[in-house]
Amino acid sequence: MTTKAQAVIDWVDERFPLTSSIKGHLTEYYAPKNFNFWYFFGSLALLVLVIQIVTGIFLVMHYKPDASLNASGVPVAFASVEYIMRDVPGGWLIRYMHSTGASAFFIVVYLHMFRGLLYGSYRKPRELIWIFGTLIFLALMAEAFMGYLLPWGQMSFWGAQVIVNLFSAIPVIGPDLSVVIRGDFVVSDATLNRFFSFHVIAVPLILIGLVAAHIVALHEVGSNNPDGVEIKKKKGPDGHPLDGIPFHPYYTVKDIVGVVGFLIVFSFIVFFAPEGGGYFLEFNNFIPADPLKTPPHIAPVWYFTPFYSILRAVTYPLLGIDAKFWGVVAMGAAVVIIAFLPWLDRSPVKSIRYKGGLFKAILAIFIVAFFILGYLGVLPPTPGRTLVSQICSVIYFGFFLLMPWYSKMDKCKPEPDRVTG
Ligand code: HEM
Repeated sequence: MTTKAQAVIDWVDERFPLTSSIKGHLTEYYAPKNFNFWYFFGSLALLVLVIQIVTGIFLVMHYKPDASLNASGVPVAFASVEYIMRDVPGGWLIRYMHSTGASAFFIVVYLHMFRGLLYGSYRKPRELIWIFGTLIFLALMAEAFMGYLLPWGQMSFWGAQVIVNLFSAIPVIGPDLSVVIRGDFVVSDATLNRFFSFHVIAVPLILIGLVAAHIVALHEVGSNNPDGVEIKKKKGPDGHPLDGIPFHPYYTVKDIVGVVGFLIVFSFIVFFAPEGGGYFLEFNNFIPADPLKTPPHIAPVWYFTPFYSILRAVTYPLLGIDAKFWGVVAMGAAVVIIAFLPWLDRSPVKSIRYKGGLFKAILAIFIVAFFILGYLGVLPPTPGRTLVSQICSVIYFGFFLLMPWYSKMDKCKPEPDRVTG
């Protein structure tokens, strides 16, 4: 480096921890040397977060959160999205990147969470990383739900109507609470305006704050790895973990492989299948919202469907309170219970590599049940489907609630001292 450039860096370093942060978080941050492809999804989630924020900024330049009808009798919000798609130069690309980005976010985050499950990444000392993660997941759901109202299509309108109405099932405060959420007695212009405000500023701020906390917590304790071995326990004479390698350049380069792979698939969807077969953008949402015409079948977007199925699986009233209320409780509990995993898993080992057949079999059943719940959530309910979703909901909760027992009973293999590669 030239002496002039070094002088500038020295000047900054005296006033801001630039070089020490680069060292602490990149060039001298030691990560386990045995990361596999499952470790791509954290950086990919960061990438999608950036894509959503940047494309969102450009969408807001042209989008109008206004439910009134224009001269052609089309809601202004809906028309502004059509304007972005047809008239704004490159608008279609920005919009499809943002709508595909929403689904991509959930695909990446679900895989990221599943990696945590596979390798016991939530176990001590990473409990806080996991709790921040669960809060991120909740914030992401709120963000996606409110974003979906904005195009003011039939699904936007009726989806919001169904979900906000659920809050009215809460005893005593429910009816008033749902009015506060909507800002009106029905989903209306007031609802659109407040959801817009939450979607573009409040929830993104919370998300960014939580992601920062997530990464600060991760860098405090260091990453787990596919063997579940704590690399900090075995250090060399230089004080660095024997099984660790500097994050930069090794993992910055490796992550680029993941980014390129992701962008190939992402671009393919954006350019050739942005509706994702009706799963990423529902066909009914290409029809302007009509408060007088309920679509025959209202289904949430795919990433909500496992939890929506759990909600619908509750069909019995309890303690004199409506089944709808208990459905909401079950749906909320299905998300919140994820945060308790660090205390539910009592296995002597972290990684699936050393867990026994019992854990693997139960995990497989859980995954199948989760997919079935997801599938049933897009279909209209029938008595048979409701029964299947009830069975799968019991499996879902059983996986978590019975974990303290089966994770202890499981016959595990001994964890190695060092990572195995
Ligand atoms: C916007 C969403 C998210 C972003 C940007 C994000 C980012 C990251 C990054 C960059 C890493 C380090 C790289 C890696 O291990 O893959 C990481 C690790 C981790 N994340 Fe996330 N994350 C997000 C959501 C979540 C969620 C929803 C959970 C779980 C509920 C979660 C749990 C974890 C755990 C346990 C680790 C440590 C993994 C290990 O060391 O094995 N994250 N996250």
